[in-house]
Amino acid sequence: MCGIIGYVGAQQASPILLNGLSKLEYRGYDSAGIAVYDGQALNVKKAKGRLKNLIDITKNGSEPTGTIGIGHTRWSTHGRPSDINSHPQTSGTGNVAVVHNGIIENYMELKEFLISTGVKFISETDTEVVAHLFEYYYDGDLLSTMQKVMERVDGSYALGILCKYHPDTIIAVRKESPLIIGLGNGENFIASDVAGILNYTRDIYYIDDKEIAIVKSGSVEIFDMYSRKIEKEIFHVDWDIEAAEKGGYEHFMFKEIMEQPKAVLNAISPRIKDGRISLDISLSPDELRGFDKLYIVGCGSAYHVGMVAKYIYEDMLRIPTVVQLASEFRYSNPIIDKRTLVIVISQSGETADSLAALREAKRLGATIVSIVNVVGSSIAKESDHVLYTWAGPEIAVATTKAYSTQLACIYMFALFMADSLGKISEEEYIAFIHALLKLPEDLKTVLELKEVTQKLASYYFNAKHIFFIGRNIDYAISLEGSLKLKEISYTASEAYAAGELKHGTISLIEEGSPVVALMTTEKLFDKMLSNIKEVKARGASVIAVTLDNARDISDEVDHVIKIPYIHPMMEASLAIVPLQFFSYYVASMRGCDIDKPRNLAKSVTVE
Ligand code: AGP
Repeated sequence: MCGIIGYVGAQQASPILLNGLSKLEYRGYDSAGIAVYDGQALNVKKAKGRLKNLIDITKNGSEPTGTIGIGHTRWSTHGRPSDINSHPQTSGTGNVAVVHNGIIENYMELKEFLISTGVKFISETDTEVVAHLFEYYYDGDLLSTMQKVMERVDGSYALGILCKYHPDTIIAVRKESPLIIGLGNGENFIASDVAGILNYTRDIYYIDDKEIAIVKSGSVEIFDMYSRKIEKEIFHVDWDIEAAEKGGYEHFMFKEIMEQPKAVLNAISPRIKDGRISLDISLSPDELRGFDKLYIVGCGSAYHVGMVAKYIYEDMLRIPTVVQLASEFRYSNPIIDKRTLVIVISQSGETADSLAALREAKRLGATIVSIVNVVGSSIAKESDHVLYTWAGPEIAVATTKAYSTQLACIYMFALFMADSLGKISEEEYIAFIHALLKLPEDLKTVLELKEVTQKLASYYFNAKHIFFIGRNIDYAISLEGSLKLKEISYTASEAYAAGELKHGTISLIEEGSPVVALMTTEKLFDKMLSNIKEVKARGASVIAVTLDNARDISDEVDHVIKIPYIHPMMEASLAIVPLQFFSYYVASMRGCDIDKPRNLAKSVTVE
């Protein structure tokens, strides 16, 4: 979603802002802008469309001149993408400029109030009210003005504000939307995401909800709503900027698919010691015995990981496990209490719906374990226990390595619980550990399927509609394969539990309809074959994904993709890889913007 950057120091701000915005492009956006104080006025440049348009109108960052500024990439919520609706938004006098991530929920009421005082609005955005309110409440002191504004606005926000009356200061504040301060030498930064400032500094402060940062070139002061000063610890970012670069690959998505063996190794190897799972989670066997229900929440692919987890946890632990979309959870009056363990899964750790679900579950008394990639993110901070996926930065909008490392964490947590609760025999435990240790190597083997899947993509990239079917864990994989294809190649696709087809969806199958059939659940192989016959009888072209030790079915289907046998509960990790490649190549052949698909954002920080 939207990205924020800000700079104050001795260098020209515009090139630094543009560079920062280029590193935030991956989040998804439809317009971009900057405001720089040039010694006399706040000079605003903004443009609809790709960052290139802003680079053009700023003559490659050579104007506006000035050493303090803020910048933004906007992903529209209120008001269509346009030059006027782009940020920064300014007050009527042009003396206050604001960049904003999030949604001001009561903006209509504030707008009416401001109009009644004579303010004229020029954009359709919710953000513009913040600029006008700031000007309205301005009392000569940035901190107290900001507090007054915050008392009036409801919703979620990360804000970067420049005020002409204080030309050496950026004000930064957040509520339910991420914001960090980058600490430099004689210069400081604000950003919505570490990637935006990593070219300049690795030392950062994480700003918490309702904290206000007063950022100057030589100082950063942080206050709460009552003007009490807050001391922050400096967090040192240890990943390299190269990790957030393409490293010779054409797309981040491809790079991230190829990084999966290493990412999964990073997630697993420090957590297996002397053949036993050792998690950085302090839940005792007694505490674990106290849970009579598991709830798993997440959005999109994280939810699909939860679907895989449900099959594993119910089978292995015999504990009822509910998987729910985070956006549904918060309004479903969930049956949760202190005997419920809630697992929140999120790559970014900032997804608004997942964060809201976490808070609701906590309020109801549940214990929260989160599986998160971004260190220090809101979900990680607000959970009782965190399992970091350690996948490194994931830039492509379509998740691949984060999905795989989330699965790895799900397996390890299953084993940790099963062992603590005495629900697994030593023999089964050893077999599972063995499979976990083997997983990175097996992932390398499935990466070799890229040519095969590229060829398949060349047969089907023009298909209007592609179906994915499977049963049990294979159904969960189907959902993820179908989502990957939809989001990056814009191909209409549906994933169905194979046994459910004949209850309606099979009417969509016609001559030549491509159907990807997942057949890695050994016990359901024959059932799947029956479903394949049903669609074949109606003219479908079937691509089957089977285990390499499975019965040969090449006479029954059009194409077979074989993946190594690993462990009945862990096949999702291998089966998803050819589907990732397939989506990637279909999207590439259809000429899509693979890393930044239309209308999508990497981190969905609004409801
Ligand atoms: C997956 O490819 C998606 N882009 C999307 O579904 C994503 O998984 C979802 O938005 C959840 O994001 P999170 O993991 O950062 O919470």
